[in-house]
Amino acid sequence: MKYDVFSLIPQVFSGYLGCSILNKAIENGLISVTDEPPYGGGGGMVMKPDPVFAAVESVVGTPPECPVILLTPQGRIFTQQDAQKFAEYPRLALICGRYEGFDERIREHLVTDEISIGDYVLTGGELPALILIDAISRNLNGVLGDPDGAFDDSHASYLLEYPHYTRPPVFRGWEVPEVLLSGNHAKINEWRRQQSLLRTAWRRPDLLQKAELSPKDIRFLRDQGIGPEPD
Ligand SMILES: C[S@@+](CC[C@H](N)C(=O)[O-])C[C@H]1O[C@@H](n2cnc3c(N)ncnc32)[C@H](O)[C@@H]1O
Repeated sequence: MKYDVFSLIPQVFSGYLGCSILNKAIENGLISVTDEPPYGGGGGMVMKPDPVFAAVESVVGTPPECPVILLTPQGRIFTQQDAQKFAEYPRLALICGRYEGFDERIREHLVTDEISIGDYVLTGGELPALILIDAISRNLNGVLGDPDGAFDDSHASYLLEYPHYTRPPVFRGWEVPEVLLSGNHAKINEWRRQQSLLRTAWRRPDLLQKAELSPKDIRFLRDQGIGPEPD
């Protein structure tokens, strides 16, 4: 995956991308991130169309050969499903704003996607771009140690992940659930599925409406008095 990032302050990227899993992915050639030279905002507070078009088109072609993502608080909220979908492309362009934002013609005629990372406003699009790079890269083959890691995580199937425990089996009198020490993998998987369903129902009932539930899941939830709303 190649990420082309367009930013006025490219130096913010090296710190985060220089560490841990993403750094390993870069060293192994699984992802690459290039910072484009600053495009001029001129004296104004709105980013002008000509330098933004010129910078993006000179790197990803006219018309662009890959999705061109504008980071903006006015975009659709980024989800795990977006991360999975974007991970299917070999290349992505990410445009980071500053100041008041962009000339409207950039939205209308250059970008393919407008993405927000949440309903709040940051000073610039660099952190949102890093969030996309991180969330998307986790879905690429070879980036995570466990190839199935990203599929079990919260949000991958609209369910929150089950609780985790590690040693010691008793900490300050708080015990690890017995089933996890039983060695019975069928029982452990069933317990994890049920915990995942309960956790999602309590914390994010909105997600449960979107999750693919088996008849067994629905029976379990109904037994807990939680049943999902009928369609
Ligand atoms: C101060 S913001 C501009 C906000 C703009 N005036 C508005 O009200 O929609 C500057 C830049 O930060 C980035 N940004 C801020 N909040 C964001 C968010 N929630 N998601 C994605 N990008 C964001 C965008 O690139 C934006 O152009």
